[in-house]
Amino acid sequence: MLIRIVTIFPEFFASPLGVSIVARALESESLRIELIDLREHGKGTHRQVDDAPFGGGPGMVMMIEPIDRALGDSGHRVLLTPAGARLRQDDLERWAGIDELVLICGRYEGVDERVAENLVDDEVSLGDFVLAGGEAAAAAIIEGIARLLPGVVGNEESIKSESFRDGLLEEPQYTRPSSYKGWEVPEVLLSGDHARIERWRAEQRRRRTAERRPDLLGGDSAVARP
Ligand code: ADE
Repeated sequence: MLIRIVTIFPEFFASPLGVSIVARALESESLRIELIDLREHGKGTHRQVDDAPFGGGPGMVMMIEPIDRALGDSGHRVLLTPAGARLRQDDLERWAGIDELVLICGRYEGVDERVAENLVDDEVSLGDFVLAGGEAAAAAIIEGIARLLPGVVGNEESIKSESFRDGLLEEPQYTRPSSYKGWEVPEVLLSGDHARIERWRAEQRRRRTAERRPDLLGGDSAVARP
């Protein structure tokens, strides 16, 4: 799989691409990354990539032309913006099956809306908070995809049973020691009764999800997706 990143800060990606699962995916060539420096496609001798907003207002807006030139005729395009649909695990699963994915990192006050309207396939946000730009979101997405690529994570079982795979949060996990500073591991997990343990885990998944993320159960705060 090839992931291309359109950014004005290619140097941002040195660390996130250099460690752990992403580094391993790159080494094994399950994943290739191409950094596209938006400034190289900027206008004029100053390599301008942003301009003042039409209609007035504070800050700068990223221009469409450098982005259009940087994209060329590249693959499935994703714009990272707080105005996008909330990113979900099934987006990552869908994208992990694509040969060429392009992540476009917005910056400044925003990106000329004609980019979203005409040049991209998906617009996504990491969540209901505002970053200074899409770079950290792109790094998160790349890590989320890398661990789904065949052969990258050793333990395929841990991917199968993880949070969101069945639409619920994962149950709590514990390891040794069974007692620490008087904080005890739930007795059921030490019982050796596998049927009881599985019932307890299923109940924990259901209860945690209901308490913390009722939207995942289709409750009141469910977020609509197109
Ligand atoms: N760029 C700025 N804020 C963002 C967010 N929350 N998600 C994705 N990209 C962003």
